[in-house]
Amino acid sequence: MDDFKKYIEKEPFVSVAAVAQKRDIPVYVIGGYVRDLLLGRPSKDVDFVVVGSGVDFARELAASLGGKTEARYFKNFGTAMLRYKGWELEFVGARKESYRRSSRKPIVENGTLEDDRRRRDFTINALSISLNKNDFGKLYDPFNGLDDLEKKIIRTPLDPDITFSDDPLRMMRAVRFATQLGFSIEENTFAAIKRNRNRISIVSTERITDELNKIILAENPSRGFLLLDESGLLEKIFPEFVRLKGVEVINGKGHKDNFYHTLEVLDNVAKVSDNLWLRWAALLHDIAKPMTKRFDLKTGWTFHGHEFVGAKMVPRIFRKLKLPANEKMRYVQKLVQLHLRPIVLAEEIVTDSAVRRLLFDAGDDIDDLMILCTADITSKNEAKVRRYLKNFELVRRKLKEVEEKDRIRNWQPPVTGEIIMETFGLKPSKTVGDIKTAIREAILDGKIHNSYDEAFRFMLETGESMGLKVVNRKHFPKK
Ligand code: CTP
Repeated sequence: MDDFKKYIEKEPFVSVAAVAQKRDIPVYVIGGYVRDLLLGRPSKDVDFVVVGSGVDFARELAASLGGKTEARYFKNFGTAMLRYKGWELEFVGARKESYRRSSRKPIVENGTLEDDRRRRDFTINALSISLNKNDFGKLYDPFNGLDDLEKKIIRTPLDPDITFSDDPLRMMRAVRFATQLGFSIEENTFAAIKRNRNRISIVSTERITDELNKIILAENPSRGFLLLDESGLLEKIFPEFVRLKGVEVINGKGHKDNFYHTLEVLDNVAKVSDNLWLRWAALLHDIAKPMTKRFDLKTGWTFHGHEFVGAKMVPRIFRKLKLPANEKMRYVQKLVQLHLRPIVLAEEIVTDSAVRRLLFDAGDDIDDLMILCTADITSKNEAKVRRYLKNFELVRRKLKEVEEKDRIRNWQPPVTGEIIMETFGLKPSKTVGDIKTAIREAILDGKIHNSYDEAFRFMLETGESMGLKVVNRKHFPKK
């Protein structure tokens, strides 16, 4: 595997090579693109290292492509990005970096190609392919990256203490690549992560969370969490999650280890959904178990209210991790809060009114909630699992039936606040809210049908029982 010509005898590489050769500037494809090419995971993001100015080179290339590109130049960083026919091409001048202890921002100097390869994070990311005339298509592999790719190993090119201390984000990247690619982290490299874990404190939360999200989005995210935990990084970046760990035993009775249970739930969700926020809901569904844990002599271990306390913790955790404080957060909160409802439903007789309530509370997120609840069944007792799954089938069927009949999903009660106010001559007030709630509850409980006429009649009865008088008949149902 020495000739990589066939991979680069096509666009956009030939255009890049043409400029490089015309100007006699050495240019190489490097980093993730080469790694992924060799792993058979083709991508459209390519990094090029230019021995000289990356910005000048990119300008020249953009001109030669005749305006068919969108270019962004970052003079201060000496990098440039071109978009061309769906490709994202990044150019950087070969550089030498040195670091200070307190910052991950390097002091950058121009360097040789060798310097540039040495500053890379992992052997598998330091592979490069030449675009130059004399050795077009030759693979440069200064640190045996090819060998590591074959053996599925993440290893730093230099002494790992230097690589990680230079840029501590690389510790997260090591775990992320190991998780995404199903690789293991070489022993010395992993030992250095353990030693340097405190250095993660100089990395911005946004960058850490970015890597964490990539781990969560992997096929088998638990692998990443186990590595983060073993290295000690998890305690630094997400201590609330580590608190889930452990089993306490009183009077011979233990409870399940919620750390491993949660990871199983996360993996289960990952098998059926790529939705990052549903995966976050899986991660956080039991987050409040440590603080709600009690031992009762009669019933054993309980975690009463952990779904409510957990939902309350979500905004704080999102803020800390700089995750968005928007509808995504509210979605996670809602799923955490509702995650026991379908189970409870499956354990009892499935009544129409319980199903209507669940549909009303979950709205359009009902299908995701059912995914989470199904994933939450991690019991090793097969008979129990079968029973739950069978009951869930019943719940799903009922959900469908009730939804078809009553249309409760994203439903608004048929009598509005305006109608209540105009009929009884009320101003916006608590009384109006109370009547609205009474109507909604009556419909959800199945006491009255979900129709305007029945809801209106019920409103009149409720208002009159509160001593209100009708002052306007314009909303009365037509006979
Ligand atoms: N790199 C590095 N240290 C970092 C970030 C990046 O050495 N902290 C180098 C690696 O050689 C990497 C290249 O810069 O391959 C490009 O980085 P990036 O685009 O972040 O990662 P990729 O390896 O391309 O992988 P992915 O696209 O999956 O993030």
